[in-house]
Amino acid sequence: MEQKLLFTDDVNGALRRIVSKSRPTAVFVLVDENTAQFVLPRLDLEATPITIPAGDEHKTLDTFAAVWDALQRGGATRHALLINLGGGMVTDLGGMAAATFKRGMPFVNVPTTLLGAVDAAVGGKTGINYGGLKNEVGVFALAADVIVSTVFFNTLPTRELWAGYAEMLKHAMLTSDDRLNELLAFEPTGDRQRLLTLLKESVEVKRRIVESDPCECGPRKALNLGHTVGHAFESLALQRACPVPHGYAVAWGLVVEGVLSHTRLGFPSLLLHRLADYVLEHYGTFHITCDDYDALLAAMRHDKKSRHGEINCTLLAACGDVRLDQAVDDDEMKTALDLYRDLFHI
Ligand SMILES: NC(=O)c1ccc[n+]([C@@H]2O[C@H](COP(=O)([O-])OP(=O)(O)OC[C@H]3O[C@@H](n4cnc5c(N)ncnc54)[C@H](O)[C@@H]3O)[C@@H](O)[C@H]2O)c1
Repeated sequence: MEQKLLFTDDVNGALRRIVSKSRPTAVFVLVDENTAQFVLPRLDLEATPITIPAGDEHKTLDTFAAVWDALQRGGATRHALLINLGGGMVTDLGGMAAATFKRGMPFVNVPTTLLGAVDAAVGGKTGINYGGLKNEVGVFALAADVIVSTVFFNTLPTRELWAGYAEMLKHAMLTSDDRLNELLAFEPTGDRQRLLTLLKESVEVKRRIVESDPCECGPRKALNLGHTVGHAFESLALQRACPVPHGYAVAWGLVVEGVLSHTRLGFPSLLLHRLADYVLEHYGTFHITCDDYDALLAAMRHDKKSRHGEINCTLLAACGDVRLDQAVDDDEMKTALDLYRDLFHI
């Protein structure tokens, strides 16, 4: 099935056209407590709402089953339509519920966070957390349509905007120097029209990569840039009982993996410094000392890309010149962490 991406500030119009074209037997809209309050009232939609609790801690089997229950109670058939109206939590869980109910009913994603728009709602990965592990159970299933808009971002906490912007920085690094410089000259809290244009370019990067590798066997690993180190920072923050937003961890991870890209593959130093300055200014610092290195390296070895206990990163010789499956040894990673601390004055 082809995934249509619509970039528009007329979400009502886009939804009306989708519904009148597909003529579903019934329309359901999945929201969390926040999107029920802040976003749903702004839509002119005839649909049965299904409300779930907000937050990743509720991306569980219980919540998932509650969505099936609601669809069943509401008499949904395989020809009904589910609209997922929310951030990545809602589109991940709702996508999986739709993909499995009656062996699969169509769904449309309307992401309401920047992270959802640039990443989670696009590309066909759905899932829930299970057994204490993130995204442990899920299926690949494409939304029939994804409506990308910035109109809902006014009620989004600023931190959520910055968290999503880290993924846009990543997409820019996977594209070109010009694209990265363009993003480093912008702030996502600024002009919404400009954000929508940048968002469109960014989503196209993800779409291109995903289309070349729908099941994540090869080129899609490019999207892991910044994530080997980012996930390790996230894990360390959790161990410290002081969690950090995923996007912030990715921003710091991009800098460390940028350092590795520079020392190993000659990624331009000027661009790396610009990126580090930007991340320091807008995301602050993730504080580490050399006493944290062993825990960080252990977390990196547990990353999904790691094979045979080796640390594995996606690196760049230059923006757009991607090198997958780069095995990094402990000393090289520790040197990169030292340089990260220098750049961040830690
Ligand atoms: N499928 C993928 O490829 C993919 C990629 C990246 C992340 N993810 C998943 O996405 C999730 C994170 O996504 P997220 O950051 O969007 O989190 P989220 O969906 O939990 O949203 C963050 C918070 O913002 C609130 N919110 C959403 N829209 C709002 C609005 N317009 N105004 C006010 N509040 C609003 C939500 O209720 C929530 O409290 C994680 O579960 C992650 O695993 C999936």
